[in-house]
Amino acid sequence: MTVMLVTGAAGFIGSHLCDALIERGHRVIAFDNLSMGRMENLSQCLDHPSFSFHQADVVDSDTVNSIGAEAELIVHLAAYKIPRYGKAIDTLRINTHGIFNVLDLAAKTGAKVVAASTSDVYGKNPDLPFSEESDSLFGPSTVPRWSYAVSKLLDEHLALAYQEAYGFPVTLARLFGSYGPRHHLSWWGGPQSVFINAIIKGEPVEIHGDGLQTRSFCYVSDTVDGLLRMIENHNANGEIFNIGSVQEISIRDLAFLIKKISKTRGDMKLQYVPYETFGKYEDVRRRIPSIEKARQMLDFEPRVTLDEGLRQTIEWQREQIQ
Ligand SMILES: NC(=O)c1ccc[n+]([C@@H]2O[C@H](COP(=O)([O-])OP(=O)(O)OC[C@H]3O[C@@H](n4cnc5c(N)ncnc54)[C@H](O)[C@@H]3O)[C@@H](O)[C@H]2O)c1
Repeated sequence: MTVMLVTGAAGFIGSHLCDALIERGHRVIAFDNLSMGRMENLSQCLDHPSFSFHQADVVDSDTVNSIGAEAELIVHLAAYKIPRYGKAIDTLRINTHGIFNVLDLAAKTGAKVVAASTSDVYGKNPDLPFSEESDSLFGPSTVPRWSYAVSKLLDEHLALAYQEAYGFPVTLARLFGSYGPRHHLSWWGGPQSVFINAIIKGEPVEIHGDGLQTRSFCYVSDTVDGLLRMIENHNANGEIFNIGSVQEISIRDLAFLIKKISKTRGDMKLQYVPYETFGKYEDVRRRIPSIEKARQMLDFEPRVTLDEGLRQTIEWQREQIQ
């Protein structure tokens, strides 16, 4: 049994990770300010004797230090994601101050830190698939969307610099589009979440840009499996890993696939929203990971097909919006 501090525990990925850690016999100290997470996500863990929850802000260093003092391993997931809708300051503040506090704690206690980064750190790099050694290519600072990628890239540099300076192990997970039950029922949860809502309700599906931009979607049990391998495998120490699915799909095709799997009646109406609607905005045209490193070093392999994952997610989402 390892004592683990999980920040962002009440969020989408965090709550599934907590379920898995408890099931594997670890003690979990869950930490979340509930700004985007929900206690309901943790309902499976709440009564477990090895689980405790603390509503607290990761930006507050004293709180992080006192709540995390006993932790032998810290999984840092607390973050703000999408600056497109005007949360750029929160994104930059939480994503940078948060990791400073987590790393300062680990520098004192020697705990291993596994931190969530993002596929967005590859930015507009046109060379696919992205390997962990690929370049980061961002647009100008006048485009707020890059602030998320920049904050996560700074997190990565900070984690590696602290490891070098203080000697505790860090592992960085570059997560690619995770989806599944408990994802947010808004754009915060990703396009699949919004598309499922619209399709179930028979409303127009909002496509940003021409819909030919591509992404890959990884079912949350596979994302969590990747994180568990990074948590439990010493080979992962000091390393960065892409964790995601290698199946590339355009956003428009994703809408058609969800429509087909949901077996809803009637035609689907696509409503194209130009990027200009979001002010000065740039999108990533294609995004697909190489997961060779995680395959070789961690024996990681996503198992849930997109069809099956979407089927389960649609089923869950139907229950949520009824
Ligand atoms: N979901 C994805 O597809 C994806 C892709 C790439 C990277 N990531 C990263 O994975 C991590 C988890 O993402 P998620 O999808 O579960 O997001 P989420 O928003 O569901 O979870 C994040 C959690 O952090 C909490 N939080 C935010 N600010 C906080 C603060 N100041 N103090 C304490 N808690 C705070 C929120 O309440 C929320 O519960 C994030 O770091 C995110 O950047 C996710």
